[in-house]
Amino acid sequence: MRLRDVLYQTNHDLGNFLEAEVLLKSCLGLERRDIYLNPDRPLTRYELNLLEEAIEKRKKRLPLAYITGAKEFYSLEFRVTPDTFIPRPETEFIVDAVLNIVYGKRSKAGQVRRTAQRLINVVDLGTGCGNIAITLARYIPFSRIYATEISKKALEVAKENAQRHRVIDRITFLEGDLFSPLEDRRLEGKIDFLVSNPPYLIRSQINSLMPEVANYEPGIALDGGGDGLSFYRRIIEGAVEYLKSRGYLILEMGIGQAPKVKEMIEKTKEFLSIEIIKDYSGIERVITSLK
Ligand SMILES: C[S@@+](CC[C@H](N)C(=O)[O-])C[C@H]1O[C@@H](n2cnc3c(N)ncnc32)[C@H](O)[C@@H]1O
Repeated sequence: MRLRDVLYQTNHDLGNFLEAEVLLKSCLGLERRDIYLNPDRPLTRYELNLLEEAIEKRKKRLPLAYITGAKEFYSLEFRVTPDTFIPRPETEFIVDAVLNIVYGKRSKAGQVRRTAQRLINVVDLGTGCGNIAITLARYIPFSRIYATEISKKALEVAKENAQRHRVIDRITFLEGDLFSPLEDRRLEGKIDFLVSNPPYLIRSQINSLMPEVANYEPGIALDGGGDGLSFYRRIIEGAVEYLKSRGYLILEMGIGQAPKVKEMIEKTKEFLSIEIIKDYSGIERVITSLK
């Protein structure tokens, strides 16, 4: 079989042309343009077997990113495994929020205003494959990042990603429960940005999600407790302790959670100028608050 026939067949099997392209590229180690420049290239038996295996996995609803082992986030490629949550586009709003504050919003003239380049301390709680921490380290060269994660295996993937993106020297990866690995580091009152995309799904609703999520993504990355809000309570409490005065707490939230999270933040009486950012679908997705 030739590339063009295989692409046609894979599209037919999966009912999704984009996914067919991605699988073909990944199994054959090709760039997208190679498929169209050499449509008559024959496939070896070995290549066909690899592709068939991948198609079978996808038909069983294994997420595409776990099959290819890669996911793009903020235009950077991250390795992902079934031990890591798959980065979502809406989480890019956390990165945008931090960069907008650090560099100032784009002026009308389209220039980026830079603040004085003092060292910026960032904490990322529940770093997963490291996507938020690594992207911030890449875009803020004068940053020092502490990334905590409860899953040892996810943390290994995050370290690998940090090495690949050459920011491992500025990120301290710490295994453990939320803030506990930060204790004894004397960071209380010294953090400029505390960011997190915590598990925020309501436990009883996880099984009814699409099979890609419910059956394959790590439960500890999804489960936000009985009301989906258990992590926010702990994170907001810790933020009061770890953020410096005029430091920012920036959190991703699930659908409909914004008013409750906002109320929790307001109750502390420690934060001002709370802002809610909507995602591409108009969902209130990220909350930023200044201590
Ligand atoms: C929704 S995922 C987010 C991953 C990544 N930061 C992102 O935005 O794509 C939540 C992450 O929190 C981690 N996690 C869950 N409970 C935790 C805890 N108690 N302490 C630290 N990390 C935790 C999970 O393993 C998972 O990697």
